[in-house]
Amino acid sequence: MDNEIGDVMIAEEDIQAKVKQLASAISNDYQGKELMLVGILKGAFIFLSDLCRELSIPVKFDFIVASSYGSGKKSGGVVRILKDLDVDIKGKDVLIVEDIVDSGLTLNYICKNFQARQPASIEICALLRKPDDVRSPIEIKYLGFDIPSEFVVGYGLDYAEKYRNRKDITVLNKTPGNYSEKTQTFRR
Ligand code: PRP
Repeated sequence: MDNEIGDVMIAEEDIQAKVKQLASAISNDYQGKELMLVGILKGAFIFLSDLCRELSIPVKFDFIVASSYGSGKKSGGVVRILKDLDVDIKGKDVLIVEDIVDSGLTLNYICKNFQARQPASIEICALLRKPDDVRSPIEIKYLGFDIPSEFVVGYGLDYAEKYRNRKDITVLNKTPGNYSEKTQTFRR
């Protein structure tokens, strides 16, 4: 429904410029190494696709599917890995690619889980972070944008699985009809 879509928060051209900037920093930092990019599905699939095509270094890919929940609300403190990595990351340089860091619980859990597998290094690249919502702080080496605590969609981010294919990051209008039964909240 189009009336669900509110103001553009980050325009397509600004996202693309940031992706190039992040890719340049990553290519520079991992010069001479073979990087393992790990996308956290589903939200990261578009950001990862654009980011990887701007890299000038060799990369390999893997994906995980994670879900955070608890007390009927999203990000309630319990994270489950629904689909694990296919490859062994021991001794590899791993870069986790995420669309958004909200509470930080998902990434904290995944990083601890990955650390136990003894990678050579592990860093995070996230397009968006909501600093006001962070409950479990985590270092993000490559960050696109800090944004206010609004429910945003587009560029991989969904509302009830819709709008992931939008080219910009857009605020979802907070009307009663937009209340999510799944997350029991308007906020991501
Ligand atoms: C979103 C996002 C992160 C997580 C961030 O995923 O892609 O993985 O929430 O939240 P946190 O920092 O509070 O843990 P979501 O569960 O919406 O699934 P999706 O990627 O399939 O949209």
